[in-house]
This record gives sequence, structure tokens and C-alpha cells, in this order.
Amino acid sequence: MNGHPGGEENTRRMLALAELPEGARLLDLGAGAGETLALLRGLGFRAEGLDLSPRSPLVDKGDLLHTPYPDGSFDGVLSQCAFFASGDVPGALREAHRLLRPGGKLLLSDVFFQAPEALLNGAGFSLLRAENMTAAWREYILEALWREDVPCCTIPRGRCGYWLLIGERR
Ligand SMILES: C[S@@+](CC[C@H](N)C(=O)[O-])C[C@H]1O[C@@H](n2cnc3c(N)ncnc32)[C@H](O)[C@@H]1O
Repeated sequence: MNGHPGGEENTRRMLALAELPEGARLLDLGAGAGETLALLRGLGFRAEGLDLSPRSPLVDKGDLLHTPYPDGSFDGVLSQCAFFASGDVPGALREAHRLLRPGGKLLLSDVFFQAPEALLNGAGFSLLRAENMTAAWREYILEALWREDVPCCTIPRGRCGYWLLIGERR
């Protein structure tokens, strides 16, 4: 089972919406087992990824809240199901903002407790697109529980939604 709802289709949807040029330099924050990273490289992007507990030699070990890259290093920062798992969504957004060049794209699919527009605006991004994937995410969680797969992050409690968000760094 993939580490995020929608699997590869979700990644391809984000890429289509973000309209990143071939060869763009991308970073996957919380890259896990490296499936998305392999896909990005296969599509011609210069992609890197890091995770606290990498599950592939493709993925570097590191904390997405404190990465070693200089300011403005990336044309795109992508993250699937890892900002919420980090326990500090505002901190993750601050780091993504630092890593992106002005005009760079933020590609997220994750659990959020705040309305997407206010959340991204407050973090220095313009919201280009928001797609509500809460129904697909609920099915994903139920399927994981049914298979007795333990999702690799805590299941949130309370009124939240699962969103695909595309932002642009102001
Ligand atoms: C639900 S998994 C998603 C993995 C991958 N993005 C995917 O979609 O398959 C969440 C990932 O976030 C990583 N993670 C959680 N907190 C992190 C942090 N502070 N820095 C880097 N990775 C973190 C976990 O180790 C885990 O691999």
C-alpha cells in the first residue's frame, strides 16, 4: 500500500497542476520509501528527498523542519502526508518557504485543520489550487486498518480535512 492516498495518480495530479518545467529542481520532504522520488526522476526532474527514517537508499536522512539546503535552492517543494506527521505544520511551511525561490511551487497533499487559503497565505504563499480529498483519505485509512497496516503517522482526531494544495511562494 502506498504511503499516501491516491498513490502515483495523486503525485501526477499535483505535477500537472503545478506546471513545473522538465529539469526543475525538486525536493520531496518526508520522502519515506522513495516511490515519489523515483517517479520524479523518471519524469526528468532533478529530484532529491529526505526523511527522518528513510526507507530507501534514494532518500537522504534528515528533518524536514531543519534541512541543510541554502535559501531558495528549489523550484518546487513537494510533500505527501509528512507535514502533519512532523507535528509542526507551521514550521514545515516556514522551511518550505525558505527552500523555494520566489515564484517556486509548493505541492502538498496532507491533513490540515485550517482552511487552505488562510493557511498558505499566512505562510507567504499564494494558493493556486485546492482539491478536497477527504473522502478518498477516509477510505485509505479504513483500508489500512482493514489490512492491519499501521499507517506511519498518528490518525488525527477532530475536524480536519485532507487536501491537495498547490501554492506559489511570494
Ligand atoms: C505517512 S508517511 C508518507 C511517506 C511518503 N511521503 C509517501 O507518501 O509515501 C510520513 C513520513 O513522514 C516522515 N516524517 C515525519 N516527521 C518528519 C520530519 N520531521 N522530518 C522528515 N520526515 C519526517 C516519516 O518518517 C514518514 O516516512
